[in-house]
Amino acid sequence: MSEKPWDGRFSEKTDTSVETFTSSIDVDKRLYHHDIEGSIAHCRMLAKALIISETDADSIIQGLGKVKKEIERGEFVFNDSLEDIHMHIESSLAEKITKAAQKLHTARSRNDQVALDTRMYLRDAVKSIIQLLASLRHVIVMLAEDNLSAIMPGYTHLQRAQPVLFSHHMMAYYEMFTRDSQRFSDGLKRTDVNPLGSAALAGTTYPIDRDYTSEQLGFAKTSGNSIDSVSDRDYIIEFLSSASICMVHLSRISEELILWSSSEFNFIELPDSFATGSSIMPQKKNPDVPELVRGKTGRVFGNLMALLTIMKSLPLAYNRDMQEDKAPLFDTIDTLKACIDIYTKMLPKIRLNIDKMLDATRTGFLNATDMADYLVSKGIPFREAHACAGKAVNYAIGKGKELNELDLEELKTFSNKIEKNLFVFLETSAMIDRRKSFGGTATENVKAAVQSARKELKNEFAGFRT
Ligand code: ARG
Repeated sequence: MSEKPWDGRFSEKTDTSVETFTSSIDVDKRLYHHDIEGSIAHCRMLAKALIISETDADSIIQGLGKVKKEIERGEFVFNDSLEDIHMHIESSLAEKITKAAQKLHTARSRNDQVALDTRMYLRDAVKSIIQLLASLRHVIVMLAEDNLSAIMPGYTHLQRAQPVLFSHHMMAYYEMFTRDSQRFSDGLKRTDVNPLGSAALAGTTYPIDRDYTSEQLGFAKTSGNSIDSVSDRDYIIEFLSSASICMVHLSRISEELILWSSSEFNFIELPDSFATGSSIMPQKKNPDVPELVRGKTGRVFGNLMALLTIMKSLPLAYNRDMQEDKAPLFDTIDTLKACIDIYTKMLPKIRLNIDKMLDATRTGFLNATDMADYLVSKGIPFREAHACAGKAVNYAIGKGKELNELDLEELKTFSNKIEKNLFVFLETSAMIDRRKSFGGTATENVKAAVQSARKELKNEFAGFRT
């Protein structure tokens, strides 16, 4: 089992420390399924192009099936001396079918093989991430729809700014995760390209039919330049960037949930089943899930930086440095999936303290812009109206009151256009529902956004089933 396919040129045995150091099997064994699929397609292509016989192809394919079963049953023995998953599978095949196995590697190299495997693996992973994101987006839409009456302060600079619907705030995350999903789908176009048949770097002398391999493996395209095909890791970098952006969004919502669940805000309560306690302070209920999602964002960014750094000075074509692409890739896939999934489970269980949210909109002069808008509606130019409302705010601060707590006489000293109906104008729900500009927080807008998101998701879910 420890015979190396390349050891013909060597007169010394590989040092065991080198075997351990260069081995990637612990990381890349998870490519076994895609490696075998790729080999089966390659083998069929070799037979179709009359490079190997049908009999040999059949026996190789049968042998590969046995290798796969062995791996799946946990009976397969992994061994550092065989470096990676490609050599393990080939060597095990050789033990099973001796002669024909020697022909499988005709017209290919591990350089194009590893690019093929990671592209196929990533293609599947991205599809499942898009589905997980669709479930998360669905949960966000439900949360928005179920809480359309909840009003909270909207913030800029983390200072209370203007009242908004909680649902509008949530639908902002819907937009972010929708863009993430689109980014992943877009990257998929560049991942869905078959590099197999580029061989070591220059192509091959055999009359191979690369499009036939692409067709069998469901690739949208066959790669156009053999040197690029074995050197390119853009598709992984692109995925890691999209994953990083998605983690930014998950981290921002985490930060908000952490703040909102603090006693200082007290806007929400996280479900007990998604929080943990302290070993010393009996009163504590910690928001560990959002904290860990926020923390894991660091490792996903780190994975992107790692691969960018690995690739930045590599001469064309393949270099062994590129073996280091898999750990960041797999870690990002696992981390991102876990974070999306835990959010999909946790979000429906958060409890809103609607009264606290609304209370928070009542102090901090969240109605100052609306007072200016009121004056504009009375024919005063906006800048002048803004200055007038500013003076009223300053006066109210001195009195320790809010604008709507001043009496009409006091308010009239700032403008004689102010009348009693200002108080109705400054009611929180009126302020919300006047913001009807497209994309604004008015209830009717948010309802429409929820409906259109529902429709969008329905179409996407229908797409998944086909
Ligand atoms: N394990 C290697 C990797 O992941 C496969 C390609 C090795 N090619 C080579 N010529 N040594 O990159």
